[in-house]
Amino acid sequence: MSKFSQHNINKHTYKARTVWTLSFLCFLGVALIADFMWASSSSTSSPLYFSIASNWALEKSGIVIISNFDSSTTDHQGEKVAVKDKKDQVPQRSLSATFADLPAPDLEWQQMPSAPVPRLDGASIQIENIFYVFSGYASLDHVHSHVDVYDFTSNRWVDRFDTPKEMANSHLGVATDGRYIYVVSGQYGPQCRGPTAHSFILDTVTRKWSSMPPLPSPRYAPATQLWRGRLHVMGGSKENRHTPGLEHWSIAVKDGKVLEKEWRTEIPIPRGGPHRACIVIHDRLFVIGGQEGDFMAKPGSPIFKCSRRHEVVYGDVYMLDDEMKWKELPPMPKPDSHIESSWVIVNNSIIITGGTTEKHPVTKRMMLTGEVFRFRLDTLTWSVIGKLPFRVKTTLTGFWDGWLYFTSGQRDRGPDNPQPKKVIGELWRTKLHL
Ligand SMILES: *[C@@H]1O[C@H](CO)[C@@H](O)[C@H](O)[C@H]1NC(C)=O
Repeated sequence: MSKFSQHNINKHTYKARTVWTLSFLCFLGVALIADFMWASSSSTSSPLYFSIASNWALEKSGIVIISNFDSSTTDHQGEKVAVKDKKDQVPQRSLSATFADLPAPDLEWQQMPSAPVPRLDGASIQIENIFYVFSGYASLDHVHSHVDVYDFTSNRWVDRFDTPKEMANSHLGVATDGRYIYVVSGQYGPQCRGPTAHSFILDTVTRKWSSMPPLPSPRYAPATQLWRGRLHVMGGSKENRHTPGLEHWSIAVKDGKVLEKEWRTEIPIPRGGPHRACIVIHDRLFVIGGQEGDFMAKPGSPIFKCSRRHEVVYGDVYMLDDEMKWKELPPMPKPDSHIESSWVIVNNSIIITGGTTEKHPVTKRMMLTGEVFRFRLDTLTWSVIGKLPFRVKTTLTGFWDGWLYFTSGQRDRGPDNPQPKKVIGELWRTKLHL
């Protein structure tokens, strides 16, 4: 063999090996970081108010090629990765990481003053121009127990006050009558700790909290809304954080007072599970999107370390009216969860920002939603009316003076990577034209 051809062979071998090694390292890297939903969080953000966000790409770029691997062996922190024997390997498949993004018009977004803290799985209530932003995770190991207050007229964060000690820190059910805010159940503490049934009422005028009868069983992120003088609570996850609850309860309330001793059992919801939008308009109650299953505490973990479990995301729309029978309406343009505080009502339409959609079919990674959805209540039809500056879940959404606002949540890794990364406190707005 000549020196020349030997050189070529070596070069080829070297190249092949490098490519293989690089792909493997890449793959390993993806596997290790992909599920690490708490990679970073930061409370500070640049005072870049009024910058225009250039939207995330719609192009089907960012092709990922993943060889066969069993994601079920990867836990939340991605500690273990199993690569099957070569002989078991199926032919490689390729599918864009961003394939679930729907075509959407661009919106011009302005960045406004960030919330004092980043938060994930918080909750929000808007009363006139005042936006109350509740609790949530700062990071997986730290949860908030206060409310931040934003004023849409002065466009400033104007206040902060504590929540009761026994109140849950995330996955709350919230509803308001325009003065009083009802806060029901939720998760108490960081990581994947247990829920509490304790429930509270905030008088936003006096800033005083009072307690109300605990929910019959605690729930994570139950669908919650005031309807016909009663506080309705349904769905959510049961005590293990994963099992969907179908139960539906209500209790009579008026002007911040609970009028009954006990919760009443109502017609169960056809599908249980957490993280759904629950909205009352035109005397009808709507429950939109959500999921079955969620992260659970690792068995025996003293810190209730979160570990990933199977979850299925839905775009279902259920409605209750006079008949008190659940009716199914046209589903969202794609499955969407983590939207409990991500909606507003504008001109006879429901507007929903962001969320999470079904996991990537190949990588099994969680994928965030970046669309702004509109559900017209006159025609009962859905459309995609725009894109957010990035994909983000558990946004807290408000509407004031023609502007659609969203803050908080967990955003994507970038235009080509819809997996969750940074927990944010950023606040953005866009002028809405329906
Ligand atoms: C809502 O309707 C009013 C009256 O038709 C209109 O002036 C306004 O621009 C609409 N709002 C949005 C956000 O489209």
